[in-house]
Amino acid sequence: DGEVYRYYADGEWRVSTSGKSVAIVNPTTRQTQYRVQACTQEEVNKVMEGAKVAQKAWARTPLWKRAELLHKAAAILKEHKTPIAECLVKEIAKPAKDAISEVVRSGDLVSYTAEEGVRILGEGKLLVSDSFPGNERNKYCLSSKIPLGVVLAIPPFNYPVNLAVSKIGPALIAGNALILKPPTQGAVAALHMVHCFHLAGFPKGLINCVTGKGSEIGDFLTLHPGVNCISFTGGDTGIAISKKAGMVPLQMELGGKDACIVLEDADLDLVAANIVKGGFSYSGQRCTAVKVVLIMESVADIVVEKVKAKLAKLTVGPPEADSDITPVVTESSANFIEGLVMDAKEKGATFCQEYRREGNLIWPLLLDHVRPDMRIAWEEPFGPVLPVIRINSVEEGIHHCNASNFGLQGCVFTKDINKAIMISDAMETGTVQINSAPARGPDHFPFQGLKDSGIGSQGIINSINMMTKVKSTVINLP
Ligand code: G3P
Repeated sequence: DGEVYRYYADGEWRVSTSGKSVAIVNPTTRQTQYRVQACTQEEVNKVMEGAKVAQKAWARTPLWKRAELLHKAAAILKEHKTPIAECLVKEIAKPAKDAISEVVRSGDLVSYTAEEGVRILGEGKLLVSDSFPGNERNKYCLSSKIPLGVVLAIPPFNYPVNLAVSKIGPALIAGNALILKPPTQGAVAALHMVHCFHLAGFPKGLINCVTGKGSEIGDFLTLHPGVNCISFTGGDTGIAISKKAGMVPLQMELGGKDACIVLEDADLDLVAANIVKGGFSYSGQRCTAVKVVLIMESVADIVVEKVKAKLAKLTVGPPEADSDITPVVTESSANFIEGLVMDAKEKGATFCQEYRREGNLIWPLLLDHVRPDMRIAWEEPFGPVLPVIRINSVEEGIHHCNASNFGLQGCVFTKDINKAIMISDAMETGTVQINSAPARGPDHFPFQGLKDSGIGSQGIINSINMMTKVKSTVINLP
């Protein structure tokens, strides 16, 4: 069927028996761009059976061979960067250059995962018994890391390739099988990425990609008894999944409200550059975007002016033209952003630019003099609109940051390193960046959210460890 992209199971591309498909709407044209299969629950069951069989054989495949295949997939992925990036442009309106970077970064991530994997998993432990009271030296415990089984990977729309491979790479090197459920927007880019793994020659059934409606297969997948690990990145759905998940180990990266705390002694040009990059790259659709600026009153006017000048230079338009600001992913997302903006307007925020929207395209907007009674002070717009809250003490800034339900990342700008470290310690977030906007990468750094921002820690090394269990064998001497 040339019209509807096939799903991937048991090493082949398949048409769903449902006879149905899911439309992917181009955020820029707001027309259907692609269609993917609407898989059924029965098909999910079949995929699971195949994955179970493939996993057993894969776990016995030498680690160096697993790494070799991952290196091959990484190289193929990079070779295919242009067509995959084109899907990202059409499906999620990612600016053309960023779309290419996402694919290249993904190839690098897969290679790095293979390299780390052979080291981390190539090492075990030996313990002896006589260190614990009452024991002689007659027990030797050998422990090593074994795979969990079948990993269910659910990446979000904003990095459908990169946040898929950040789960796939660690799962595979550790000896797991994989079921990928890509986001609707980004599904075709994800299928193309899976094709690169297919071309690399992984065994049949080891990697699977099912597409479809969340209402039909979403809960069915996350509650499936065959799943041994769920790695999810996205929004509130993650909280619902974790409440129902039971005994399955979880890795969750959810929303954020990353605060940017600016002190009086900060380098204000650096601050302005990072507010623009941190708050507005990919139109603010990053969980690590700067989502609230908490700035000392005495420097606020200067920084607001500097940011305004930079925002005026951003290009706004289609992703094909590599515009800085592109349409947000869906119309409902644009409506949600607009709701936050209107609420702030009614409650008296100062608009540094005129609010402008055409379809899903929203022009960059800085909202000054935002107060805690406005929704945008707490909620995550996931769009190119950024609130500024003026503070009179550092404590006020820390208090606002910690009063959020989220705790992904945050940043602090000051030339006083002692203060920066004390503020970092006081901020209840998984990471604090000193003198730079929040970011997940480099991808081997640990990445984690506190509170509603997540469960567990990601980053290449942590993800490999998370997707394994420790297995011990104890030798008992007479
Ligand atoms: O929004 C997903 C999150 O992982 C952000 O990644 O690389 O934009 O900091 P990054």
